[in-house]
Amino acid sequence: MFERLERAPDDPILGLMAAFRADSDPKKVDLGVGVFRDAKGDTPVLDCVRKAEQAILARQTSKTYVAPAGNAGFNQAMERLVFGSEHPVFGAERIRSIQGPGGCGALRLGAELVRLAAPQSTVHVSTPTWANHVPLMTGTGLQLARYPYYEPARGTINFGAMCQALEALPAGDVVLLHASCHNPTGADLSREQWQELVPLFRRKHLLPYIDMAYQGLGTGQEEDAFGIRLFAAELPEVLVAVSCSKNFGLYRERVGVLHVVTDSAAVGLAALSHEVRVARSIYSMPPDHGAAIVHEILGNEALRDSWTRELQGMRERINGLRRQLVVQLREACPARDFGFIAQQRGMFSLLGLSVDEVKRIRAQQHVYMTDDSRINIAGLRAENIEYFARAVAQVLG
Ligand SMILES: Cc1ncc(COP(=O)(O)O)c(C=O)c1O
Repeated sequence: MFERLERAPDDPILGLMAAFRADSDPKKVDLGVGVFRDAKGDTPVLDCVRKAEQAILARQTSKTYVAPAGNAGFNQAMERLVFGSEHPVFGAERIRSIQGPGGCGALRLGAELVRLAAPQSTVHVSTPTWANHVPLMTGTGLQLARYPYYEPARGTINFGAMCQALEALPAGDVVLLHASCHNPTGADLSREQWQELVPLFRRKHLLPYIDMAYQGLGTGQEEDAFGIRLFAAELPEVLVAVSCSKNFGLYRERVGVLHVVTDSAAVGLAALSHEVRVARSIYSMPPDHGAAIVHEILGNEALRDSWTRELQGMRERINGLRRQLVVQLREACPARDFGFIAQQRGMFSLLGLSVDEVKRIRAQQHVYMTDDSRINIAGLRAENIEYFARAVAQVLG
């Protein structure tokens, strides 16, 4: 049977990681894969995570199944983290949540719910968007389309073009938005822009599907969730997929959650009943350990304070690197304006190099980034930031 299969194309990020590992040049710089790195270039286990794990291991007496919807305590703690403890969705019982295996698992659960409820609807993603959004949405059988978002020449959002495109969509279509730290551009919607989108979504009966993989790594824990909280307060239905991979450093534990905000409690219960069936049909139950860690951290004052400080440290490192990089690039390539990098948020920015320039900077300067010239800002270090800026200057001529 399997002889009929042709080899699938390689995943570009995995290929880039392998090429980086094989490069023996000591100057090599990895700005490819999207993981946070500290000043030494490591992706460490957070202190609060270590302590939470110790407490869990000391206490745990069984490894029996949890439930298809996951750890209820974790789901509730995430609701409060994402929406804030006073949000009106709680009083009205307008929110139901299901733990997913990572942000990807949560994104897929939401897409499956859309397919069950409205199989004819199209999911619209930003141009550009995180590459994995495409298979996560279309793998369900839903159609995919794109709306304009990023203006490379200015390094900002083309909000006018975005609104114009959304205005033309049919009722019932789904619009995938990034809550903050847009991947790959780093260009986020401002508060005013989120506010302007509310009446448009209401009038056009569009379903917002918000992906939040970087809460607290952009401007702040509360600030990064602004759009989600606003949309959930103002619109009848919202899907929110959350990842704990980056802000808790739990990448390999696969922990995330899907929040389904509905117009009424009864609709929410029906939606959750379908989500449970979807989970059963794919992986049955999510893994426990990562969710148990997050639950422990969010429910313990000392651990939560420690997490807040560690998260702030990660955020400040990224934002500090953004400012330093602009200074270094201004010196190395005065003819080109990279000032937008300091205005953007999160781990990523698009440098604006051509594919040929990306290939040359890799071959000649040992600097690794994806072909679209997305750089992981956290991959830079005090020791290599100047080298990197000069490498950019060299490749730009
Ligand atoms: C925009 C975005 N959404 C979702 C995710 C999901 O991450 P994970 O499945 O590792 O939790 C990522 C990870 O890179 C991401 O960048």
